[in-house]
Formats: sequence, C-alpha cells, structure tokens
Amino acid sequence: MQTIWITGGSSGIGFATAKEFIANNWQVVISSSNKIKLESAKKKLELNNHKNLVHAIVCDISSKNNVDETINSIEKNIGKIDIALLNASAYSPNKNQIFDIANYELLVDVNIKGTLYCVNKLKDVMKNRNNTIAIISSPLGYRGWPTAGAYGISKAAQLSLSESLYFDFRKLNINVRVICPGFIDTEATKKNSFKMPFLKSAEYAGKKIFNRLTTGKEFEIIFPYLIVYFFKFTRILPYKIYFYIWKKLGNF
Ligand SMILES: NC(=O)c1ccc[n+]([C@@H]2O[C@H](COP(=O)([O-])OP(=O)(O)OC[C@H]3O[C@@H](n4cnc5c(N)ncnc54)[C@H](OP(=O)(O)O)[C@@H]3O)[C@@H](O)[C@H]2O)c1
Repeated sequence: MQTIWITGGSSGIGFATAKEFIANNWQVVISSSNKIKLESAKKKLELNNHKNLVHAIVCDISSKNNVDETINSIEKNIGKIDIALLNASAYSPNKNQIFDIANYELLVDVNIKGTLYCVNKLKDVMKNRNNTIAIISSPLGYRGWPTAGAYGISKAAQLSLSESLYFDFRKLNINVRVICPGFIDTEATKKNSFKMPFLKSAEYAGKKIFNRLTTGKEFEIIFPYLIVYFFKFTRILPYKIYFYIWKKLGNF
C-alpha cells in the first residue's frame, strides 16, 4: 500500500487531496498544528469506512524537532512515505497592510523555514527510493503583488527552492515537483476582500492534484490553466506595464 504525507491536511486543499487519495486506497497521513482541527478532519475522513487508511499526527512545521519526529514516526510506525505533499501554509492578508514585521516573521517561519525542515528530513529518508516531494507554491510567487509582500516572498521562495531541488535531488533519486493552483475556495481565501476570478472548489483542486501526482511525472502542476497562464504571462511584462495594470485594477 502506498503512503502520502500531507502537511496542512486538516483543511482546504490538503484535506480535499487527502480525501481523493483515501478514495483511491492510499494510506494517508495528515498533519497540522492545531490538534482539535486535525482530529476533527481525521474523523471526517474516516466516515466512509476508511478507518485503517487515515492517520493524523500533530506537527507544527515551523519546529524542526517536530518535523523530524513526525517523519521518523510515520516511517517507523505507519509506512514509507511515497509522496510528501508540502501544502501547509500560513496566510494573513490585510489590504491595509504596509509592512508588518510580525506577519513577515510568521510567514517566513511557517512557509519558508517549515518547508525547508520538511525537505531536510525527507531527503534522508527518501534517498534512492524514487519518491516524490511536491511543494505547493502559488502564482503569488511569480511577481510582487500589492499588500501581499509577506505571502509573496514565501511563495516565491518555495518556487525557486523547488526549481533548484529539481536538479539537485535527481542525484538522490527523489522527484521534486511544484504545484501552483489558481484561486481555490478555502479558509485561507475566505480572508480575501477582493473578487477572485475563476475561483474553484477545494474538491476540484484535490482531484487535480491526485490525478497529476499519480499519473504524470512533469515538474509543474498548474490549474485552472487560463488564470495561471495569465499570471505566468505577467512575469515577462516590463515594470511600466505591470505597474500600470495594478494602478488600473486598484489604484495601487
Ligand atoms: N486557496 C488558494 O487559492 C491557493 C492558491 C494557491 C496556492 N495555495 C496554497 O495551497 C496550500 C493550502 O492552502 P489552503 O488554501 O488550503 O489553506 P488553508 O485551508 O488555510 O489550509 C492551510 C493548512 O495549513 C495548516 N497549517 C498552518 N500553519 C501550520 C503550521 N505551522 N504547521 C503545520 N500546519 C500548518 C493549517 O492547519 P492548522 O491551522 O491546524 O495548523 C491548514 O491545515 C498553501 O500552501 C497555499 O499557499 C492556495
């Protein structure tokens, strides 16, 4: 039986992806930092008599020790991790935000350092097993968006990290992949105060992630195509045009 570890599996995209993998008879370990939320997610996942396939371990990815212990415990007591979906993320948008150092620190600790701690331990246990590390970044990492500096640098870091590790981890026989979803309706995006074009459900994202992770081998997984390709296109726009678009969109 194959095993996937999903960080941040207690809600949103992580939870929906867990559901898909369980429905397809994978053994799933979800983790997140809030014990009550995690236990409630586990119960929901067990509803369809999949009790033996669902495991939950509290793990705050911003703690290196916690990450090391969690991965050791999965490998020893549950099964070898075939896919690690590094999905957990902190997100605290604030449209009036100019520069809030506490928010930057939180997002650096969870999204950047947390991802690094996971990768650091996974590289030891996954070495020469042809396993996969899939990191969920975001199109917000493609360019700097107004009021999204903290989240943006964390997602840009994850994207750049994934690209570098794609090369480096080939030597360890570990596949590194990156996932960049468009707008998905979750607890995180409910905090957004702007209208999100092409908003899709978490279930939609879960199905896309399951299908692409289990059938393809390509480095990048994006969905829905239209909006993500639009964001990709903005990467090559000169600053004059890029800034002009934001001025027209929101007087930034
Ligand atoms: N929704 C979108 O439109 C969208 C678009 C592009 C990319 N993404 C990316 O997709 C991923 C999932 O986002 P989502 O929208 O599904 O968000 P979400 O519903 O807010 O889920 C985030 C998950 O991360 C966990 N988490 C937060 N801090 C943690 C920590 N310190 N340690 C461990 N787990 C932690 C949360 O659980 P606890 O609170 O229990 O810790 C929760 O399970 C993120 O990486 C996000 O950047 C989302």
